[in-house]
Amino acid sequence: MCGIIAYIGRRDAKSILIEGLKRLEYRGYDSAGVAILEGAGDLQRARSVGRVQGLEELLGDGFNGSVGVAHTRWATHGGVSEPNAHPHVDDKKLGHGIALVHNGIIENYASIKQWLAKKNHVFESETDTEVLAHLIGELYDGDLEKAVQAALREVTGAYALAVICPKEPDTLVVARKGSPLMVGVGADEYVIASDSSAIVAHTKQAFTLEDYTVAKITRDSIRTSTVDNVEITPEIRELEVDLEEIELGSFEHYMLKEIYEQPEAIKRCFQGRLDLRDGQVRLGGISEFARKLATAKRIVFIGQGTALHAAMIGEYLIEHIAKIPAEVEFASEFRYRNPIVEPGTVVISISQSGETADTLAALTEAKQKGALTVGLVNVVGSSIARETDAGIYLRVGPEIGVASTKAFLGQVAVATMLAAYIGRRRFYSQDDLGSLLNEMDRIPSLISRVLEQSDDIKKATSRYINRENWLFLGRGMNYPVALEGALKLKEISYIHAEGMPAAEMKHGPIALIDDGMPVVFVATKNSQYEKVLSNIEEVRTRGGHVIAVATEGDTDIQSMCEDVFWVPDVAEPLQPLLTVVPLQLMAYHAAVMRGKDVDKPRNLAKSVTVE
Ligand code: M6R
Repeated sequence: MCGIIAYIGRRDAKSILIEGLKRLEYRGYDSAGVAILEGAGDLQRARSVGRVQGLEELLGDGFNGSVGVAHTRWATHGGVSEPNAHPHVDDKKLGHGIALVHNGIIENYASIKQWLAKKNHVFESETDTEVLAHLIGELYDGDLEKAVQAALREVTGAYALAVICPKEPDTLVVARKGSPLMVGVGADEYVIASDSSAIVAHTKQAFTLEDYTVAKITRDSIRTSTVDNVEITPEIRELEVDLEEIELGSFEHYMLKEIYEQPEAIKRCFQGRLDLRDGQVRLGGISEFARKLATAKRIVFIGQGTALHAAMIGEYLIEHIAKIPAEVEFASEFRYRNPIVEPGTVVISISQSGETADTLAALTEAKQKGALTVGLVNVVGSSIARETDAGIYLRVGPEIGVASTKAFLGQVAVATMLAAYIGRRRFYSQDDLGSLLNEMDRIPSLISRVLEQSDDIKKATSRYINRENWLFLGRGMNYPVALEGALKLKEISYIHAEGMPAAEMKHGPIALIDDGMPVVFVATKNSQYEKVLSNIEEVRTRGGHVIAVATEGDTDIQSMCEDVFWVPDVAEPLQPLLTVVPLQLMAYHAAVMRGKDVDKPRNLAKSVTVE
């Protein structure tokens, strides 16, 4: 979604802002813009629809200054157009403007707009953000920090924002409520951004701005306060991200890089947590609540998109290993359903970014109703990580590709450890845990083995590349993997793909199968294997082309399918950690062969921070 970058210091703001915008591109956007204070305070603004590259060309040799704000916009209020792109300015009262970039939604913008219109403010865009710029302008009385605080006391909704004003050429004001914003603290300079990827090249010292907090920043000072002007002291910490982790390196796309990072990522995720010698799972982030978790009456997983699919696997794992009733729900539905939260209910939020608006809101709802909340999150210090009572970080490193890959594996790996952790405190025997841990320890090298098939997968995928409708089927834990395979394919190659339980096919979707339709079965050797073979037959009889993800050495399935991708034989609860990998590669190769922009799929944002 929208990305913010702002700079105040002694260097050339333009290059820092443009480089920052490029780092934020992965979040998804449709237009971009920049505003810079030149010299003693001349405000220069440029905006354009399309890529940051276009904006960079527009700036040319001009826009020279050391204070500025910039933005990538993902349209919500108002279409994709230059007038709707940020920064927005108010030049009614000040003559030469306040410039503001914003991520979030100002919910009561319509009534504020009416009030401002009566004061002769004229609006050039259809956005809620422009209203906020005018409101700050209207309330400005020689002190930008105070004007921002006053304006934010009037608005409802979510915001991360950065504001500059030519009348105060050595000041930058930023604020946050509900949308992410991080302040990087350098030597005589500050870099403020929606996430650490745009900061880490300049400094590793940073803090996350708290909700309802405003920061007034000059080159050598920072003052943080609440919107009611109560001063607070931020906690600066070292960013855990390294620059090479967010660079593309020798890979053509971030998605491919992240697929190949999976063995290392899972190794890191397990490190220090799987104690093979003592036969234990060690999870520091939830140890304080071990008893509450082990005596939980019900566990509810929430998430969206890929995280929801991981949650569905979590549901199976908790029931199978921990033997606690579990369910899974779209966070977006959970929050509006007035969900029943009884004593003993644990709500587990799964999220890569830790900023997904629906998941965050559902978590808040669960907390208000008294649930113990646990976060399985990748981004350290993100909103969900901070809001939950306890949590387990995925530790898979930054995920830049919009199509989630290594984070999915991390989510499933962490859910598996959690189930084993709780299970051992209930009915799961030491022997069972011991053998599970030994198998888990092998998973990173087994993922590498699956990755070796990339060329075969590419070749097989090329045969179906012109088919516009695909089915993905599986049973048990292979069903959410099928859903994930379908989501990967549709989001980056724009092929219509449906995932469903294999048995459901006969209840309607079988009508779709025609000659040559690609039908992907996740058909590993597990408790439902025989049933899946019957489903494969049903598809073949109707002319469908079957592509299977199957267990190495399964000669029966090989004779029934057009193409087979192999995964090593592991215990059923661990199979999703391998079976999804060929599906990720298939989606990747399909998108590349169809000439799609894999890392910037149309209409998509990496992290959906609005409802
Ligand atoms: O950051 P989150 O894990 O909360 O994001 C949830 C979904 O938006 C995300 O998984 C989305 O579905 C991905 N594009 C899937 O590849």
